[in-house]
Amino acid sequence: WVLTATARSPTNIAVIKYWGKRDETLILPVNDSISVTLDPDHLSATTTVAVSPSFDRDRMWLNGTEISLSGGRFQNCLREIRQRARDVENKEKGIHIRKEDWEKLHVHIASYNNFPTAAGLASSAAGFACLVFTLAKLMNVSEDGAALSSIARQGSGSACRSLYGGFVKWVKGEAANGSDSIAVQLVDESYWNDLVVIIAVVSSRQKETSSTSGMRDSVVTSTLLQHRAEVIVPSRILQMEEAIKNRNFGSFARLTCADSNQFHAVCLDTTPPIFYMNDTSHRVINTVERWSQFEGAPQVAYTFDAGPNAVLIAPSREVASLLLQRLLFFFPPPPDTKLEGYMVGDTSI
Ligand code: DP6
Repeated sequence: WVLTATARSPTNIAVIKYWGKRDETLILPVNDSISVTLDPDHLSATTTVAVSPSFDRDRMWLNGTEISLSGGRFQNCLREIRQRARDVENKEKGIHIRKEDWEKLHVHIASYNNFPTAAGLASSAAGFACLVFTLAKLMNVSEDGAALSSIARQGSGSACRSLYGGFVKWVKGEAANGSDSIAVQLVDESYWNDLVVIIAVVSSRQKETSSTSGMRDSVVTSTLLQHRAEVIVPSRILQMEEAIKNRNFGSFARLTCADSNQFHAVCLDTTPPIFYMNDTSHRVINTVERWSQFEGAPQVAYTFDAGPNAVLIAPSREVASLLLQRLLFFFPPPPDTKLEGYMVGDTSI
């Protein structure tokens, strides 16, 4: 027999960035972060996990290609879920798996994502959130979202925020064992649903420095990171929570842009310096900043993760549509750079 479970998880985009760990194995961050979870129809991971007594080892395929599971992160997530597995009864197929059987059973996992992997678009966030959620579903785990978020966190830090929709805060926590380093939902996906997210795919090439190694170097060498984690982020988190609660787009956009720029400043302050943005990224920033100056207030927020692609957040469909026109017609990318395309967070524009 074979028993399967399938689930889909969206990716999330941080508006107050996570950058730096205080514990590399448990994946505990140096500061709180806040993100917005995207609509799963556009950027998401879909995972199917199968279990069968005929499987002789755990195996995983990512977008159709088998990948190695020797990495500790995958094993940690699997172990945490297995420890919480419960009896599973499937009368239709005549299957009864007892809690203690899960230790001996192996799983086959197939995961797909519908966006450029490792182009700095946080595909690992959707991937690990989906893996943990699907395993928990298959193994009948009863833990709530917060407990699952702390397991997903051990796969990839940003993954813990993808367990919820809407705006989500990853609380860094204080405990050495990571028990209080969990994601909490600030507001759900219907609270501020006029926002439109546009992703300008500047490059779908694999990024040169992974987030994991980049943030490791920043923690060791950047004094700006230390100041950011201790002084800047705590007050920014409070302001961002207030902006979200009041749906204050001006304040939201100012904080989002400032935090993205500071994150990239920390990257530059790292030895050796890390460059995630390229000329086209800088041009997109200029375009948005000039537009805001012209109108006297932020019209759109921009934010960049560990790659050159721009994530733009507009307060409404009308503004998003104007922004697209502006980017495409008034400020075309310079001839020597190639803008590979736009993925629009809301296809009805
Ligand atoms: C720039 O979650 O990919 O996207 O925990 O090492 O897997 P690991 O790193 P990851 O880092 C994401 C960094 C970021 C900012 C963010 O999403 O908060």
